[in-house]
Amino acid sequence: MRAFPLADFLWQKDGADIDARVMKFMAGDDVVLDRELFVFDLRASKAHAEGLRNIDVLSQEECQQLCKGLEELETAFTSGDFELDERYEDGHSAIEAWLTDRLGEVGKKIHTGRSRNDQVLVATRLYLLDALAQLGDLCRDSASAFLTRAKQDPTTPMPGYTHLQHAVVSSTGHWFAGYAEAFVDNAALALDTARWISCNPLGTAAGYGVNLPLDRDYTTRALGFERMQINPMYAQNSRGKFEIQALTAMSQALLDVRRVAWDLSLFCMPELAYVKLPDRFTTGSSIMPNKRNPDLIELLRASYGVVSGALNEMQNILALPGAYHRDLQFTKGPVLRATRHTLQALSLLPDLIATMRFDAERLQASIEPEMFATDVALSLAASGVPFRDAYRQALGDRDALTAISPQQSLEARTSMGAPGNLLLDDIAARIDAL
Ligand code: ARG
Repeated sequence: MRAFPLADFLWQKDGADIDARVMKFMAGDDVVLDRELFVFDLRASKAHAEGLRNIDVLSQEECQQLCKGLEELETAFTSGDFELDERYEDGHSAIEAWLTDRLGEVGKKIHTGRSRNDQVLVATRLYLLDALAQLGDLCRDSASAFLTRAKQDPTTPMPGYTHLQHAVVSSTGHWFAGYAEAFVDNAALALDTARWISCNPLGTAAGYGVNLPLDRDYTTRALGFERMQINPMYAQNSRGKFEIQALTAMSQALLDVRRVAWDLSLFCMPELAYVKLPDRFTTGSSIMPNKRNPDLIELLRASYGVVSGALNEMQNILALPGAYHRDLQFTKGPVLRATRHTLQALSLLPDLIATMRFDAERLQASIEPEMFATDVALSLAASGVPFRDAYRQALGDRDALTAISPQQSLEARTSMGAPGNLLLDDIAARIDAL
């Protein structure tokens, strides 16, 4: 493979003056980031070539040559034989340069009727659709992991807190089931978001269309999009807008990860010692020989911050008027960073949930009679005492408070979804319906 010096910029014309430092700043780490978009760019390029064949801009043979070249480049790239590096301004340039190098004249035809503006849009969108499908799977796996634990251990009593203060008796099943339901919703959001962004920007060129009857219906179908993004200007204006929505779906999942991680951090404190994490999820201290630290759950907890920071970066960059602006290139870093981070973090959750252990005795030891006061008040209210009077009596009725066991309290708490009526089958049905 020959090296491509700066002189091979796609857009360079005779006599154009190029400043290497300016170019370096503008390219930034774009070509490195494009490695993550490259296979999607190649697939979209193939659909583009086929679309050009459909309207006779390319002959069948030219289309076949280009498609074969694109497939070879994908193989070379995924096997490591082809490296996408600073020889190229970006991934888009690399595709054309490689095809031209391999195929000669026909390689120079791949860019007919497209711009890097719609090229980067379509590659990013395919990348996001792939990421959202993975996000949906990981959220469903997480929901299943929580639900399995809820089914295995539905009734072990544990203190229920509000304001981090003792409230009423709860159960491990209730804790697990709550997060199972949350991750069902997070999975559904990932899938709904994927549907929302499943529209094809390819064929909008620089934002104003082209004087060729591009077969956009074909590329929409070939790339598996649900619909075509009709207006070319809107296609450009949706860059970043759709990414923000995808990152929002990711951040919703991480918001729940953060709560789980916070709960576990507290539950692991020696003063509580409600939870034991498997050793492989903890690390030691470099100085304190006695330490086992729950670093993993802390980094899971911080993950929301990473994505939220990326969202903030995007929102700031997107303060732009309509149409394409090079500013948009800088949305790529936060999108890729946040996506990578989200998928990596979530992939660790199901195993963590499957293997963490509650200590039933420690949980039981933290439950005191006052935590039954609400039960006592409501029992009195059910027998006709006005609730406010029952509320005032309950805490003073020591006999009533000490007569209730945690198990009785849980069994009696049968309002829908409560610890005595977890409706786990309903949650399972929602997982199945995803
Ligand atoms: N790297 C560029 C980006 O991410 C590709 C599009 C370049 N388009 C242009 N008109 N300079 O936006």
